[in-house]
Amino acid sequence: MTGKAYLIGAGPGDPELMTLKAARALGRADVVLVDELVNRGCLAHARSDAKVIEVGKRAGCKSTPQAFIEKLLVQYALRGMIVARLKGGDPFVFGRGGEELAALRAAGIEVEVIPGVTAGLGVPAALGIPVTHRDVARGVTFVTGHTRDGSEPDWAALARSGTTLVIYMGVRNFARIRHSLLQAMDPRTPACIIENGTLKTQRQRIATLGTLSAQGFQGPAIIVVGEVVRFSSLEKTSLQRKAA
Ligand SMILES: C[S@@+](CC[C@H](N)C(=O)[O-])C[C@H]1O[C@@H](n2cnc3c(N)ncnc32)[C@H](O)[C@@H]1O
Repeated sequence: MTGKAYLIGAGPGDPELMTLKAARALGRADVVLVDELVNRGCLAHARSDAKVIEVGKRAGCKSTPQAFIEKLLVQYALRGMIVARLKGGDPFVFGRGGEELAALRAAGIEVEVIPGVTAGLGVPAALGIPVTHRDVARGVTFVTGHTRDGSEPDWAALARSGTTLVIYMGVRNFARIRHSLLQAMDPRTPACIIENGTLKTQRQRIATLGTLSAQGFQGPAIIVVGEVVRFSSLEKTSLQRKAA
């Protein structure tokens, strides 16, 4: 008898930001494959007899190859087990959930996807940043600052888009990204970097695009560029004080 797989989004960090549906599915699993960015507090919802397998993948660290993760998911499900794949944020936002879904489907396994709050929404929101505030933003663009092949988006076009830019995995390349954005963006545009968002270890720097530096940040961090940053609950301590 074939089992079932759940691709579960654990939310941006704080375990309380995981959905009820995610917690319930986790509680059904025989095996849980968990990403490094997932707060271990989320595992409180797993059964005490569930087998938990850590499959961390932080840049620069020892990681589990993607193909091996997919193989494990398929193998456990084919043995009739309920397998939960617990991923940070939302499983389909910069998370390789699409590849895992395809591998499971190809093996004929039933899959249920449980969305999660992606870091690019949850982290700014927790800081009081409304990413699509209609007075100042036409929308929001999620973009990665780090690609497998080193290719870059058209940063100048993104700068002109009138949307808030939310950059994932941008810490390491921020100096270059900032330089590209400044070709088409006012250096006074508010910008911030938020590390370990929604966790007790959260740190942030709020500045302008012209002055923001990612120095001293290791990630995981989100960079937000756009007028919406002015709405941040911490804004008075930086941007407004500078303007005064
Ligand atoms: C591989 S992507 C996974 C994104 C995830 N699937 C999501 O929907 O949030 C990892 C990146 O997400 C961002 N990220 C994840 N958790 C974060 C947090 N608590 N605070 C700030 N950024 C975070 C960082 O840019 C990090 O490098």
